[in-house]
Amino acid sequence: MKDQTVLVTGGAGYIGSHACLELLQAGFKVVVVDNLANSKVESLARVQKLAGKTLTFYQADIRDKQALTDIFAKETPDTVIHFAGLKAVGESCALPQLYYHNNVYGTLVLTEVMNAANVKQLVFSSSATVYGESASPQYSEHFPLGAINPYGRSKAMIEDILRDLSASDKLNNVEKPWKIALLRYFNPIGAHDSGMIGEDPNGIPNNLMPYVAQVAIGKLTQLSVFGDDYPTRDGTGIRDYIHVVDLVQGHIKAIAALNGEHFAEGECKAYNLGAGRGYSVLEIIDAFQRVTGKTIPYQMSPRRAGDLAECFANPALALAELNWQVEKDLDDMVNDTWNWQTKNPQGYQ
Ligand SMILES: NC(=O)c1ccc[n+]([C@@H]2O[C@H](COP(=O)([O-])OP(=O)(O)OC[C@H]3O[C@@H](n4cnc5c(N)ncnc54)[C@H](O)[C@@H]3O)[C@@H](O)[C@H]2O)c1
Repeated sequence: MKDQTVLVTGGAGYIGSHACLELLQAGFKVVVVDNLANSKVESLARVQKLAGKTLTFYQADIRDKQALTDIFAKETPDTVIHFAGLKAVGESCALPQLYYHNNVYGTLVLTEVMNAANVKQLVFSSSATVYGESASPQYSEHFPLGAINPYGRSKAMIEDILRDLSASDKLNNVEKPWKIALLRYFNPIGAHDSGMIGEDPNGIPNNLMPYVAQVAIGKLTQLSVFGDDYPTRDGTGIRDYIHVVDLVQGHIKAIAALNGEHFAEGECKAYNLGAGRGYSVLEIIDAFQRVTGKTIPYQMSPRRAGDLAECFANPALALAELNWQVEKDLDDMVNDTWNWQTKNPQGYQ
């Protein structure tokens, strides 16, 4: 398995760059396809420096079928990890066509090229946002889906497409059917402990942890906490935060599973990647203040439409079938975020 080539779409991005590092360190050959719409190639320079190994980078858009076909012909990957996508919920509400075109159409092109090249192993970056409302705050894979914004719906549509694709292989009796792992991430935060790679959001961050980090370093003046009257232990929203390095380890385990006995030919299976426990917004702020010694000014603001009170993963299936669980704790996540932020106050620039 170690000599296999993994093609990583979106590999220059936040999660993708951490995945490339772990893949190189685990002995895989790595080919990255990224259009740099939301990333900088410097991330990959640093990945190679950290790994002491090289990867191959193509600046290309996954919607460019000819470019992708040429890359597959040249690189003959064994497996694809598909991170490439746009991910800002608010932007997806303002620009839904862009999100459906980039995420859904992009995945259609990618899978067409994979089919033509007979590359049928895929690990897909899905999201907990595909889940609908549920009576329990702890989400299992069989819970009903019901995304409530264009970004989440683009992920849910892609999941449907991939399930249909693997089902069609069974009907068509193809010789080498698809094997697909749909990884539903909860809330990835943190950075590599070297402080050399991390999350480098364009403009004002959408997510809590990079926002808190930018307040702590003085780039932003204060944090808004959306809702303090939820039925939770301190009234603020509770989410399942997961260290990005733990998250990418889940991808390595998923590749092993695709190559192993847990995946029957033609199977398309979803796995939650989360810690299985949640922290409130105020607990995150407290941890950040404790670990960094910085004061985080914040103000209470009204709830945001669509936000749930509490949401965390049931990660039992990933443990049972991928042999994966988180190893890092909240202090690791905060320490590594802060280390990255202080070493790179302007991100990769
Ligand atoms: N970060 C999160 O909180 C989170 C949570 C759940 C799921 N995800 C999913 O994980 C994946 C990676 O997320 P991330 O946080 O690393 O985001 P990111 O924006 O840092 O990385 C995505 C990468 O994909 C590239 N890209 C986008 N569209 C492309 C296209 N058409 N062709 C080629 N490259 C393209 C971008 O340039 C970027 O480098 C995304 O699919 C995202 O939806 C992220």
